[in-house]
Amino acid sequence: MTLIAFELSGETPEIPTAEIVGALESENIDFLVKYQLEQVLVIETSSIDAVLVGELASRLAMTRHIIKVSGISYANLTDIISMAERMDISKTNSFTYNVRAKKIKRKSPISSEDIERGIGKVLYDRGYKADLVKPDIQYRAILTDNKCIFGPVMASTDSSAFERRKPHKKPFFYPGVLMPKLALALVNIARTKEGSVFLDPYCGTGGIMVEAGLIGASTLGCDVQRKILMGAKMNLDFYSVDYSLMFQDAGGMALRDDCVDCIVTDPPYGRSAFIQAQSLEKLMKNSLCEMYRVLRPGGRLVMVSERPVETWAENAGFRLGDMFTQRVHRSLTRRITVLDK
Ligand SMILES: C[S@@+](CC[C@H](N)C(=O)[O-])C[C@H]1O[C@@H](n2cnc3c(N)ncnc32)[C@H](O)[C@@H]1O
Repeated sequence: MTLIAFELSGETPEIPTAEIVGALESENIDFLVKYQLEQVLVIETSSIDAVLVGELASRLAMTRHIIKVSGISYANLTDIISMAERMDISKTNSFTYNVRAKKIKRKSPISSEDIERGIGKVLYDRGYKADLVKPDIQYRAILTDNKCIFGPVMASTDSSAFERRKPHKKPFFYPGVLMPKLALALVNIARTKEGSVFLDPYCGTGGIMVEAGLIGASTLGCDVQRKILMGAKMNLDFYSVDYSLMFQDAGGMALRDDCVDCIVTDPPYGRSAFIQAQSLEKLMKNSLCEMYRVLRPGGRLVMVSERPVETWAENAGFRLGDMFTQRVHRSLTRRITVLDK
């Protein structure tokens, strides 16, 4: 059994963990959550190899580093150093190292430099050489919730990719779009994987479809504004993802029963949203029934909304899963509801 730690970005407390769980489940990986700490999730597994870790790092939005845990200690210098001394590391000829310490929310009174120097000395005394520029092994010590999680970095994520995919940098922009980082996290929570059939029935400019397409799903999208659909086409072509777009109402889709694996959607809400329906309530009720119909048994819907959708979703047949809230601004809190068929 191996312990793997995921160092999480800190913008929301629960979504990064749910994202990892969704991504692991989508790949049918057996695992057990060992510790759920502030900005760190530690799992125990025997079925992850370096290739899979690389793949996870390329698709997780809210993880920064994936670390193979060599030791866990209390977050004081004496315990951290004695953990490093007990650490089982196999020596190879070309082993150079660097140690980086990260204090989550700067809570610990020990300085990062003291930790880096202390662990570095243990490694040096064992015959390894430091290389601050291009080390063979990058070690990370993360101090969180009075614990220190320590080990070599197996893979890191590329957060600059999200900067490049920001909505206003895409060929077609229209306001009211989810940020790509959140969109990808939701796509992972929906257990999307390579080869999945993915649907966004309120696709707008295709932002969520782009994220699902980039991890290898075949994506389908519907919208009722022709101009926006043409914009979605431009965006999806730009990222060369697999897609089909339909000019149709989310409350009545020309799709057969049980034909999609996962759905992530961001229906209209807020004062300026374009809504084609008698009322938003009617549209939500009808489209939840439609999403339930087209989703395969075992499939998952992740829905963003302003109002609670639980009762409508249960009436449509869904089982309720997690629910997250995210404050967007003073008058808007986003709800993210996970629904299973
Ligand atoms: C919040 S936007 C979705 C934004 C989208 N996630 C994106 O990346 O651009 C909601 C979309 O729902 C569409 N819409 C409104 N009524 C609809 C209906 N009855 N059926 C399908 N789409 C509808 C609007 O045209 C709008 O593009």
